[in-house]
Amino acid sequence: MATLILPALNQPDHEITTPAGRIRVPGQRIAEKRVEIHDALLTGLLDAARSAAAGAHAPYSHFHVGAAVVMADDPEQRIITGANIENSSYGATVCGERNAIFQAAALGFRRIRYLAVSTADSLDGPIEDRSPCGICRQVINDFARSEDAADDAIILIDTAEPGVLCEALDIERLLPHGFVF
Ligand code: THU
Repeated sequence: MATLILPALNQPDHEITTPAGRIRVPGQRIAEKRVEIHDALLTGLLDAARSAAAGAHAPYSHFHVGAAVVMADDPEQRIITGANIENSSYGATVCGERNAIFQAAALGFRRIRYLAVSTADSLDGPIEDRSPCGICRQVINDFARSEDAADDAIILIDTAEPGVLCEALDIERLLPHGFVF
């Protein structure tokens, strides 16, 4: 068991005054989050995401993505996976993250506890090459929150960097100022 610490962020708003009115650059205030995570679950999630990438249907981009979720409201805490499935219309393509989340949602679950993402073809690249797209970030946002913020979704991003297992983020760090309806 390891304790993951997501450090607090306390960045104030910044404003400038122009003749047309004030312009605000919103700051960010995120409380520190401590998450207990079992080693076996961590490796299980990352392995499942890596394996799921083998199921990707990516004849156009040749970019294979696997994702694995554990839902906070699933009493069995099962690992549910998805992969990106491309389509000849291009627009109907669905990312690996969304396929995993929608599969879990279709089983009746609504709150992500962990989401692991593995971009098999860019694992040695910078985080920008390995992290969820904007649409997926909004989908994660809609399923990210629990009653207790300590149980909010943790997003694990796979990497091939020697000695590093993954990067870990919460939704506030992945999608600052994300839309909430
Ligand atoms: N893709 C994902 O599956 N997840 C992401 O977050 C980024 C992009 C897929 C969509 C498409 O099949 C391919 O990767 C290239 O964009």
